Amino acid sequence: MNHIKHVAIIMDGNGRWGIKHKKSRNFGHKEGLKTVEKIIKSSIKNKIKYLTLFAFSTENWKRPKKEVNFLFSLLENFLLRKISSLNKQNIKLKIIGKKNFSKKMHKLLDISEKKTSKNNRLQINLALNYGSKSELVHSFNEINKDKKKINENDISKHLYTQNIPDPDLLIRTGNTQRLSNFLLWQLAYSEIFFEKKLWPDFNERDYKKILEKFKKIKRNYGNI
Ligand code: FPP
Repeated sequence: MNHIKHVAIIMDGNGRWGIKHKKSRNFGHKEGLKTVEKIIKSSIKNKIKYLTLFAFSTENWKRPKKEVNFLFSLLENFLLRKISSLNKQNIKLKIIGKKNFSKKMHKLLDISEKKTSKNNRLQINLALNYGSKSELVHSFNEINKDKKKINENDISKHLYTQNIPDPDLLIRTGNTQRLSNFLLWQLAYSEIFFEKKLWPDFNERDYKKILEKFKKIKRNYGNI
């Protein structure tokens, strides 16, 4: 049976969910946040150590301002409401991505990371303003400062995910089968599960089913 240390998730389908329910795309995001909370709880129950959530990509800035603002206000409210409780539950929050947000958001993210930095039950890596290609460019530039010959370990060590083991599995909801510039390097050997349900409809039972399926997969890493 495979042990599961790290689960990564592309939480796709909020906007469509909102429209499908004759409401707004933003309503779908609000509902999606409820699923985030359920999956955090379930990850703890299943003794997952790292949960990486794709919350906002470097490409998501292209969306209408109203939607972008709504997503960040959702995040702000979530952190203000929940960071103490996350801390009490021994959960560590880490932001992965390029941290060029508003001053206020930057400060809130910083405080949230610092407050929870010593925790070790579950680490939530929140991918915000994250793009895998820009992460790789960042890593190469860091290494290039030393002007040395690059090996795989150097690249891993300079990614936003330094010191975090690669995901064992990736789940993408929303009936779309692509990686969307998410963890391209780190997913090299991950098992990938594409889920038809839209993110707000995804529940703990669906999650558990995927985890159980993963445990039974024979992972070869190029061997036989
Ligand atoms: C993709 O759905 C989802 C996002 C771009 C945002 C994810 C945000 C949440 C789940 C809620 C907020 C989370 C936190 C942690 C505060 P989409 O809108 O691209 O879906 P679509 O394919 O239906 O348009």
